[in-house]
Amino acid sequence: MDYQHLLTEVRGSAALKTGWITLNRPKALNALNDALMDELGDALRVYDADASIGCVVITGSEKAFAAGADIGGMASQTYMDAYKGDFITRNWEAVRSVRKPVIAAVAGYALGGGCELAMMCDLIIAADTARFGQPEIKLGIIPGAGGTQRLPRAVGKAKAMDLVLTARMMDAAEAERAGLVSRVVPADRLLAEAQEAADAIGAMGLPAILVAKECVNRAYESPLSDGVWFERRMFQSLFGTEDQKEGMDAFANKRKPVFRHR
Ligand code: CAA
Repeated sequence: MDYQHLLTEVRGSAALKTGWITLNRPKALNALNDALMDELGDALRVYDADASIGCVVITGSEKAFAAGADIGGMASQTYMDAYKGDFITRNWEAVRSVRKPVIAAVAGYALGGGCELAMMCDLIIAADTARFGQPEIKLGIIPGAGGTQRLPRAVGKAKAMDLVLTARMMDAAEAERAGLVSRVVPADRLLAEAQEAADAIGAMGLPAILVAKECVNRAYESPLSDGVWFERRMFQSLFGTEDQKEGMDAFANKRKPVFRHR
C-alpha cells in the first residue's frame, strides 16, 4: 500500500500476520489531518479484509504517537464548515469498525486526537516515554473524537476531569495505574512487545478472536444483564466452529492446535 502520510508493512511470525501502520508526518508530530485519517481508514479496511492478517498495530514515532488533530487545518473552520463536513466523525470512526483487534503502540506524545485515536484501539501498549493528554481546552475547544466519553470509561471521572479541564499530561506509569494502557515497556522494547502481543493473537483461531473483541466491546454499550446474555449466545455459537473442536482436541492430546479459522 502506498500512502503519503502512513507507512505500512506486514510482519509477524504467527500463522496470521500483523498489519503494521506507522503514522508518518514527523515534522508535525503526526498531527492528524483529513488526508492522514482518510489513508488510515483505507489501510485499516484493507487489513481487515485480508484473510492472512489476524491483527493490526498502529504506531507513531519515538517522539509522538500523534500530537492531536491538525490545528492548522482547524484554525479557520466555522461552525457551518464543521457541521456540514461532519468534522470530526467523518473519517475518524473507521478504527471502530475494524473487526480484527487493533493495538496502539504508543511512544512520546498521544495528545488530543492522538490520545483519542489510541483509545479507539482495542489495547494500548505504551513505551515508558509515552505521555497522554486531552489539552484541547487550551485551544478554546474540547475533545471532539470521543475523549470526554472514552477517557472516563477508561480511567474514571476524577482523572478524566483532571486531564480534560486542566490539560495536564499523564505519563506512562500513571496511565498504566489508571487503567488506560495495558502494558508499559522500555521505549526500545515497544515495537517488539507490540509484535509479540500481535503474534499471540495471530496464533489463535480468528472466529474466537472476533467474537471475543465483540463481546468485550459490548460491555461498554449495554447493561450487564444484556452483555452477559450476549456473551452467552456468542460463547455457544463458537461450539459450531471447527476451531473449537481443534482447540479442545489439541489440548486433550497435548499438542499445539492448528486453527483453520472456521
Ligand atoms: N497540529 C498541527 N501541528 C502540530 C501539532 C498539531 N496538533 N502539534 C505539533 N505540531 C507541530 C508544531 O506546530 C511544530 O511545527 P513547526 O516546526 O512547523 O513549528 C512541530 O509540530 C513540532 O512541535 P513543537 O515545536 O511544538 O514541539 P515541542 O516538542 O516543543 O512540543 C507538543 C510538543 C507539547 C506536543 C506541542 O507541539 C503541542 O502542544 N502540540 C499541540 C497539542 C494539542 O493541542 N493537541 C490537541 C489538538 S486539538 C484535537 O486534537 C481535537 C480533537 O479532539 C480531535
